[in-house]
Amino acid sequence: MFLIQTMNDLELLVEAAVADFGAAPSPAELENAKARFLGKSGRVTELLKGLGALPPEQKKTRGAEINQAKARIEAALQAAREKLAEVELAAQLQAEALDVTLPGRGRGVGGLHPVSRTIERIEAIFASMGFDVAEGPEIETDWMNFTALNSPENHPARSMQDTFYVDIDDAQGRALNLRTHTSPMQVRYARAHAARHAHEIEAGLAMPEIRVIAPGRTYRVDSDATHSPMFHQCEGLWIGENVSFKDLKFVFSEFVRQFFETDDFDVRFRPSFFPFTEPSAEIDIAFRSGPLAGKWLEVAGSGQVHPNVVRNYGLDPERHIGFAFGMGPDRLAMLRYGVSDLRLFFENDLRFLTQFK
Ligand code: DAH
Repeated sequence: MFLIQTMNDLELLVEAAVADFGAAPSPAELENAKARFLGKSGRVTELLKGLGALPPEQKKTRGAEINQAKARIEAALQAAREKLAEVELAAQLQAEALDVTLPGRGRGVGGLHPVSRTIERIEAIFASMGFDVAEGPEIETDWMNFTALNSPENHPARSMQDTFYVDIDDAQGRALNLRTHTSPMQVRYARAHAARHAHEIEAGLAMPEIRVIAPGRTYRVDSDATHSPMFHQCEGLWIGENVSFKDLKFVFSEFVRQFFETDDFDVRFRPSFFPFTEPSAEIDIAFRSGPLAGKWLEVAGSGQVHPNVVRNYGLDPERHIGFAFGMGPDRLAMLRYGVSDLRLFFENDLRFLTQFK
């Protein structure tokens, strides 16, 4: 009878522990519950302490029973700890959940700079009219940039362009500068062309015409809303045995028509001066409608190539004549896109640049 009672008493104790552990809402409260049963003055510990008062044979069975109950309580504690840890992990996973089905954010799509776009546009239009596209060095010899283009040393015409000079001469001891215009490409391209066709030229046969544009970066000591120390030019050259100003006017008008996608404009040649052309002219255009209507806009310099320059091409000015022109892609981009400050193109502010994508 006594034994059954004591078994019930331990059974109730285990049930109470299981219930308490199961009800603990957090690890801290679970540890408090543990202390109530298994701590220094917990209920199991008190029972074990009470064993000393029992007679020896009872002590043995009672002790084994208490230890059994203790082991069950400890197992219940372990189970409760694991359950709480699982709940905690589940909550954490929930809080940090990633939706792997969301579409990726991507890197954003780049776009061409408006000036690059404009140059590509110029190239495509001139290519469609049979013009080659050539590129040349931005660090140029003084000879190519000035002398070959009929600006002798110490000639006042050189001061038309505020030049960045390079301190170091090239391997042949020639003075260098940052090219002030793309016009030296006339000389480079024409000389290569003349060398390639030397046999025909010497035999008195017709040389294939030179028809080329040369876009690229150019440099001058100049900076305000419409000038930047680095800017772009696009040179044009057309040399043959029968090329005239009317061809230039036709080609240039065709270019303007395609570039601005309109027929509604006038072109005029305004007499001017360049050392490398004679006669020389500024090319102006005026739209007949739209926001710029009625204003003459200067878009290029041009002229018939000077005989001295033709000689520097390695050609005979009596036979090989033609015209050159030089225009500013930056200016054309400003007109086409309605941009009023050139510097915006070179400040690399993405809020400005991404508008042209
Ligand atoms: N090189 C000139 C400049 O930078 C522009 C120019 C004018 C180029 C007349 C030409 C030309 O080819 O014929 O101001």
